Amino acid sequence: MVKLTGLKKIKTAVFISGTGSNLKNLIKFSKEKNSPISINLIFSNTSKAKGLRFSNQFNIKKYISSFKHPKIAEKKILDLLNKENIKFICLAGFMKILSKKFIKNFKGKIVNMHPSLLPKYKGLDTHTKAIQNKDKVAGCTVHFVTAKLDSGKIILQKKVKILKKDTFTSLAKKVLKQEHKLYPTAIKKIFN
Ligand code: GRF
Repeated sequence: MVKLTGLKKIKTAVFISGTGSNLKNLIKFSKEKNSPISINLIFSNTSKAKGLRFSNQFNIKKYISSFKHPKIAEKKILDLLNKENIKFICLAGFMKILSKKFIKNFKGKIVNMHPSLLPKYKGLDTHTKAIQNKDKVAGCTVHFVTAKLDSGKIILQKKVKILKKDTFTSLAKKVLKQEHKLYPTAIKKIFN
């Protein structure tokens, strides 16, 4: 893992597919004096991602490439990441699965926010599953990305109580609030 040297922040790319609330939160965090990272690139696999608006708002380079041809898309992204000297990648609501080859190129330098207490509920629809199974707790996990989906080493987790009255929407809202606290804390833990 890259270590923070002197005052230089680690150049980071955030990969998104949607709203980008975690992206916005990471950008804010990156601007803090003690943050180990700077956000230098936003990548999205779709031009419809609302989070892309933070590129203009915060003057951060953006790059969009559909994953229709994943190999080609990944090659282009890798070239760009190298060109921009990006050393760390945060997945934040990124809905595509990266190939083994891509992950190997960034071994130990890609992290993901997943909205469940892994290893429980890998993949999609985590909140629906938690409610359907009448779980008493849900939560979120920041983990390293490996070739196996949602299975890399866990960096940090945060639990959230599920109340009887909780719906998918209310639970998702509560978990997201915790995600915004957890992601920066996990990144500090990695680099400090
Ligand atoms: C979050 O719940 C994240 O855990 C999941 O997708 C959602 C993305 O939200 N992977 P946002 O785009 O960061 O608002």
